[in-house]
Amino acid sequence: MTRSPPAIEPSKVPRHVAVIMDGNGRWAKQRTRPRAFGHRAGVGAARRIVRACHLHGVEVLTLFAFSQENWQRPPTEVSLLMQLFVRTLSREVNSLHKNGVRIRFIGDHGDFPESLTRLMADAEALTAGNTGLTLVVAAGYGGQWDIANAARSLCAEGQAITPESLESRLVLPQLPHPDLLIRTGGEKRLSNFLLWQLAYTELLFVDTLWPDFDDAEFERALEWYGSRQRRFGRVPEGV
Ligand code: IPE
Ligand code: IPE
Ligand code: MG
Repeated sequence: MTRSPPAIEPSKVPRHVAVIMDGNGRWAKQRTRPRAFGHRAGVGAARRIVRACHLHGVEVLTLFAFSQENWQRPPTEVSLLMQLFVRTLSREVNSLHKNGVRIRFIGDHGDFPESLTRLMADAEALTAGNTGLTLVVAAGYGGQWDIANAARSLCAEGQAITPESLESRLVLPQLPHPDLLIRTGGEKRLSNFLLWQLAYTELLFVDTLWPDFDDAEFERALEWYGSRQRRFGRVPEGV
């Protein structure tokens, strides 16, 4: 990670970027290759955006790697994805750690292979004290699951449900909500990603398929974000 960061005014860099990495299957199909080929190429794009966020001083990057609904894909694709997670995590964790990245996983991991949950726990423990980029990997995640869990835990303790109490029981309560969401692959939907946390996020949908998403396109996304006027329901400044 030695390249110097490109010139984006630091005050305009989003603190938290969330990404729906979509389009691997179509990318492979365009090349008349199996979907697995696209997923493997997608790992390269994930590696690129981690490095770019590190260079630009983004505090948190959340990558949607596997949704709860993705369990409904053919078993061969699901197991290929699980193997790819295991392989990628074991290959990348040391270099992420060296670069000060703190890794967190969110989602329901109950049905994940034990080899994977062990690697995830080890990666979180190894990198817990790091103070650089926080890399959140959403795997087995669903926004509705997240909200329902939070409500269930409050109810079990007889606590009142308020936006604040619910927020405190969602995954990652101590992190800022995403400022910028990027979805590649052309679909304009959230597919049950961070439903609560995206309430005031700037949403960017691009047609580029995930394996093709490169540094230049990420910089364009940051520039677009820098040009947004975020009002949070207020009137614009100076009015
Ligand atoms: C995203 O790419 C990766 C995962 C959902 C795991 P897809 O596999 O959804 O690719 P498309 O949308 O079929 O092209
Ligand atoms: C969203 O992509 C989930 C991930 C990128 C992990 P999908 O390809 O699963 O979304 P849909 O099915 O098109 O909504
Ligand atoms: Mg898809």
